[in-house]
Amino acid sequence: MSVRIASADTSTTLNQPPVAHLNARDLVRAPHLYMLELTRTYGDIVQYRATLDFAYLINHPDYVQQVLLTNAHNYNKDTFLNKYLLVAITGQGLLTSEPPLWRIQRRLIQPAFHRRSLVKFENVMVRETLATVADWQAHAKSGQMIDIASEMMKLTLRIISECLFSYDISAQVDEIRENLDVMVTIGKPKHRKVQDALAFMNRVVYGIIDQRRQRPDDERDDLLNMLLTARYDDGTGMSDQQVRDEVITLLVAGHETTANTLSWLWWLLAQNPHERERLDAELDAVLNSRQISVTDFEELPFTRRVIDEAMRLYPSAWTISRRALADDDLGGYHIPAQAIVAMSPYAMHRHPDYWDDPERFDPDRFLPEHAENRPRFAYFPFGGGARMCIGDQFALMESMIIVSTIAQHYRMRLDPDHPVEGHALVTLRPRYGIMASLAAR
Ligand code: HEM
Repeated sequence: MSVRIASADTSTTLNQPPVAHLNARDLVRAPHLYMLELTRTYGDIVQYRATLDFAYLINHPDYVQQVLLTNAHNYNKDTFLNKYLLVAITGQGLLTSEPPLWRIQRRLIQPAFHRRSLVKFENVMVRETLATVADWQAHAKSGQMIDIASEMMKLTLRIISECLFSYDISAQVDEIRENLDVMVTIGKPKHRKVQDALAFMNRVVYGIIDQRRQRPDDERDDLLNMLLTARYDDGTGMSDQQVRDEVITLLVAGHETTANTLSWLWWLLAQNPHERERLDAELDAVLNSRQISVTDFEELPFTRRVIDEAMRLYPSAWTISRRALADDDLGGYHIPAQAIVAMSPYAMHRHPDYWDDPERFDPDRFLPEHAENRPRFAYFPFGGGARMCIGDQFALMESMIIVSTIAQHYRMRLDPDHPVEGHALVTLRPRYGIMASLAAR
């Protein structure tokens, strides 16, 4: 259908995207599957009814590139998820803030997340993973099932907490995990439990900031110290509230995403014994039972491909959305000002034009010769453009260390009676966890 757009700045004839008539009940139960179904039924662009507004779901790499990269200045993060839920938790931290504040903060914080700067966290990542390996010994002996998903959440939270605060809060990590979980799962910022959880987190974080401010010479080489000592161009530093917002942002954005990626990865590997054998063979050949270090990464390309493939099938950030500021034209389709534009890595990563037999777990899709012909935005687990994930290198380094270390010690056998399905909250989790028994290698 073609219509003439009556706005002052466009007199061109643009196409109107199709309007979805799918049963929106699925949107509530399994929004990631609903989005996939929309793309299968209507193609690369479709208008559908989202939480509050009408939205456009786009599923063509060129359209995504335009929204996240080439015409990104026409889009902001004024979306339901950001403005209703995340802002209440993370305030004006990097994930939710808008320019000019966002730009200033991103420039200040970015250097700490460069690959070079992250090497200092290698020890923390290895040590915490080895602690998990040791904790699991009794389970491997008894054959008792454990929930891999909650184990991964504990592990990644211990890692990000230690990278942020050094040893200040290790005793409180379990309590922090429970409170962060309440904040993201209830989904209603005014809910009393969410308010209580926020009050708890504020007490913890402001408490640590206070202690550090009182002992400025107690310089630790952690992310909190970076936030406290960073200086704007005029020589001033961040307010306590800004530091608090960035800290909570890094805690929220920096543990659940990686934990989900790893949980899905273990689940996929347990179902694909041939790929698991290839992983073991690579680890044995390169590491020969010694501990991994970042200098080994280059020699472990298959391990990396397993991670990439897990993030293809189960991208933790299963949807990314923006609001259009002015009208836009995506491949000849009209997007009106104020519209919500949704992009779903979950759907795009299954687009049959870019992925053969998309549901199959096949790490070799990421061999350079296969990846090079794919458009940039056929795969975007970390988003793209200026607002791309600041923690992508952190997450990849952490995943390489956790996957290789745990795989060196254990194989997993899934509980065949335990249901596994995606639960698309802010991130895509396994709804009932992932139950497995362990066998020592
Ligand atoms: C596998 C793990 C991870 C995945 C899949 C992931 C995914 C993403 C995605 C898709 C975005 C962009 C959102 C948008 O454009 O609206 C994002 C942003 C962000 N992520 Fe990650 N992330 C991961 C790990 C991490 C880690 C480990 C950290 C920090 C330690 C982190 C911190 C952030 C922050 C601060 C932003 C906001 C960046 C900005 O707008 O400037 N993420 N992440």
